[in-house]
Amino acid sequence: MPRSHTLDVAGEAAGDETPVSPIIGLRGERIRLVPPDRNLHLENAIRWWNDPEVAKFLVSSLGMTRGMAEEWFERVQGRERIHATAWVAPSGLSREFVWAIHDEHDTHIGFTWIHNIDWRYRVATSGTVIEKSVWSKGYGSEAMRVRAQFAFGVLGLHRLEADAMADNIGSVRALERAGYRREGVARQKVWARGEWHDLVLLGMLEEEYAASRPAPAKNAGAGEPGSAQSKRRAGRKTR
Ligand SMILES: CC(C)(COP(=O)(O)OP(=O)(O)OC[C@H]1O[C@@H](n2cnc3c(N)ncnc32)[C@H](O)[C@@H]1OP(=O)(O)O)[C@@H](O)C(=O)NCCC(=O)NCCS
Repeated sequence: MPRSHTLDVAGEAAGDETPVSPIIGLRGERIRLVPPDRNLHLENAIRWWNDPEVAKFLVSSLGMTRGMAEEWFERVQGRERIHATAWVAPSGLSREFVWAIHDEHDTHIGFTWIHNIDWRYRVATSGTVIEKSVWSKGYGSEAMRVRAQFAFGVLGLHRLEADAMADNIGSVRALERAGYRREGVARQKVWARGEWHDLVLLGMLEEEYAASRPAPAKNAGAGEPGSAQSKRRAGRKTR
């Protein structure tokens, strides 16, 4: 099974490499998704959310003050940190998960998240920001794949959604590379940069994600997509 599609949490099948950072997180081939830590990640959040080249693609962002960033970290560091590293479905039914993305050199290169989780229908929205100096190197789509494995394999979600302004070609392409499908276009949904923008709507279903993965090993974990447990979940409409 290619490492890019494995998810190593808290030492599970972590392979033979010892990470530089003590936080193991969720592992792809090159990237790791780790819990956000204000000491490590806050300055980059402020920098990226206030970079016009990045912010122009963030549908609802008008920039991020230090106070907003501190509040955000306060929110996502506590409860979310425990859930995102515990390798169990959350009992507290959290509505969002946020991770910092580290590259193969343990450099912080972005953030990715699942939010607006609707536990009744097992549907959630997703988003990603990558440091612009490393755009188009495959980090974004890899982070989205690892996130999808967590969403479907651990949280048991049925559907992940995303949207992107129509001129955000990199985002649409990265989402498609990660396995999302283009589902439609909401015409003139966003006012930005002095004009209306269409919003491209994309989605990925758990069975599409499972079908895109290599066949599971005989003793694959119970929560893995493709496992009996996952297939039972796929047949259920609600939990
Ligand atoms: C969207 C984003 C997360 C993608 O991250 P990334 O690391 O660049 O993604 P990837 O490298 O995995 O994939 C990007 C793909 O788009 C392609 N691409 C990027 N810009 C492009 C452009 N202007 N025209 C055509 N293709 C483009 C890349 O070549 C790559 O495709 P390929 O691998 O088939 O060549 C990153 O660009 C970003 O942070 N953008 C600003 C914030 C944002 O828009 N977030 C998403 C909306 S919520």
